[in-house]
Amino acid sequence: MFGKTTSVASESEYTTEELAQRGLDRARLPKHVAIIMDGNGRWARSRHLPRIEGHRRGVKSVRVIVEECSRIGIEQLTLYCFSSENWKRPRAEQTLLMKLLEQYVIEERSEIMRQGLRFATIGRVDRLGDRVLKEIGKTVACSRENDGMRLCLALDYGSRDEIVHAVRNISAQVAAGDLNADDITDEVVSQHLFTAGMPDPDLVIRTAGEMRVSNFLLWQISYSELWVTEKYWPEFREPDLIDALQEFATRHRRFGGLDQ
Ligand code: IPE
Ligand code: IPE
Ligand code: MG
Repeated sequence: MFGKTTSVASESEYTTEELAQRGLDRARLPKHVAIIMDGNGRWARSRHLPRIEGHRRGVKSVRVIVEECSRIGIEQLTLYCFSSENWKRPRAEQTLLMKLLEQYVIEERSEIMRQGLRFATIGRVDRLGDRVLKEIGKTVACSRENDGMRLCLALDYGSRDEIVHAVRNISAQVAAGDLNADDITDEVVSQHLFTAGMPDPDLVIRTAGEMRVSNFLLWQISYSELWVTEKYWPEFREPDLIDALQEFATRHRRFGGLDQ
């Protein structure tokens, strides 16, 4: 049923003029934006609400920001939803987060198709429940042929875990004689990460003020621009995203070289 839905991504993208009205220039946009969506718990606490209410409100921000990034013409949006270290949280919070995730993947499927998004995930899959994995699989499959923005959710994701996994796979190839140790390059390592085939993020946004990367895409963000806001994720909206994109446009990326 979803396979028949036509993609409308290009129709709903902002024109150059509409981008200019928002103070954005297409030529200076990041291709890949990655977001550490932090502060759901603090948002809830500041309103005397249970933490889970913060996570629920965070889903609303996800919806708004996914659609806005897609309309702006971002090629990939990666959202850090659950880290491999988040299993340290109380069981009740883990369960509720997994339920919210499953609900999101089901409810958002038609919206993902309407916006013509390509859905993907990165992270371990062996610790996520079968039900959530099944729903993820369905959304990945039905959105495969879309040509809009890639929406990538980092689930049970930890960068060190990912690197260990890559090192093991590469070592096994060397041990089997299929790969020469001298032929291990940057590219080979990248190809063994969960993000194989994806561009590195150009811009990393973190909400809720913490100045750290919390085990997120350590290899891939080597030369990403970082932008941190004090705002909690549940209150992050389009104007905040625009602020980040405008600031990104002013950054001089040298990649170790000199300004042109
Ligand atoms: C981010 O919000 C969502 C997840 C990590 C799942 P937090 O739950 O970390 O919120 P704070 O940092 O405690 O405020
Ligand atoms: C980072 O937030 C992980 C996600 C947003 C999913 P955390 O709340 O887990 O990070 P720390 O504990 O503040 O570093
Ligand atoms: Mg946090």
